[in-house]
Order: sequence, then structure tokens, then C-alpha cells
Amino acid sequence: MRWFLVLCLAAAVLMPAGPSLSAQGDAGAGEHLAQQWCAACHVVSENQANAATIGVPSFFDIAANPDMTEAKIATFLADPHPKMPDMGLSNPQIRDLAAYIVSLGR
Ligand code: HEC
Repeated sequence: MRWFLVLCLAAAVLMPAGPSLSAQGDAGAGEHLAQQWCAACHVVSENQANAATIGVPSFFDIAANPDMTEAKIATFLADPHPKMPDMGLSNPQIRDLAAYIVSLGR
């Protein structure tokens, strides 16, 4: 019985830490970030009636644009155009947001 407990503990410690720590963006985390940081200006999800700002592309428009690949979106977010504020996003946040936006186009 004691060995069983030790094995369980070892398994818990050695478990991979989850998708958000991998190199790939996590679209679910990106959606959460988008609702928190981007929804003031962009339409970021289907259950958002409209964005506060007119003339800002919705995330669906961005996802539908074949030029906006995940890498392009990430580059933009690391160094946004003057019209959009630099939100000081971390690299994992950028990856998650880019993965989320691209996932909307599928
Ligand atoms: C204060 C308003 C505002 C906020 C907040 C904001 N954006 Fe933007 N965003 C804009 C505007 C305005 C543009 C259009 C920029 C331009 O055309 O030069 C834009 C453009 C973009 C584009 C490029 C679209 C394209 O086709 O070139 C992406 C990607 C984007 N935003 C993602 C985000 C993400 C992700 C967030 C949240 C972290 C965010 N934005 C938060 C105003 C905002």
C-alpha cells in the first residue's frame, strides 16, 4: 500500500505541466485573454454583441484574412501598429492569442 502511494506521488510530480507551458499556443487561454484585454475594441467571440470601437477589425475578420497567419498575428502583437496600443503582452500570451484568433477561422 505504501508503495502505491509513493508511485502516485512520483506520477504527480513527473506529470507534464499542461498545454499552456508548451511551445504551441493554447487557444482556450487565448480566448480568456482576448475577453479580458481585447474585447474593449475588437469583437473577439460569438457571444459578444458588438465591440466598443467602430472601424476595428473583428477577430473573425482577422481569422478570415489568409495573410494573417498565426506567425503574422504574433509579430503584430509583439510590436503593434500605432493605432492599436501596445499592451505589453508576454510571449506565451501572444502565442495563446494568436492560436485563438487563427482557431476562429476554422
Ligand atoms: C484600444 C483599442 C484596441 C485594443 C484594446 C486592442 N486592439 Fe487590436 N487593433 C485596434 C485597432 C484600431 C486596429 C487597427 C490597426 C490598424 O489598422 O492600423 C487593431 C488591429 C489589430 C490586429 C491586426 C489586424 C490586421 O488585419 O492588421 C490584430 C491581430 C489585433 N488588433 C489584435 C488585438 C489583440 C490580440 C488585442 C488584445 C491583446 C487587441 N488587438 C487589443 C485596436 C485595439
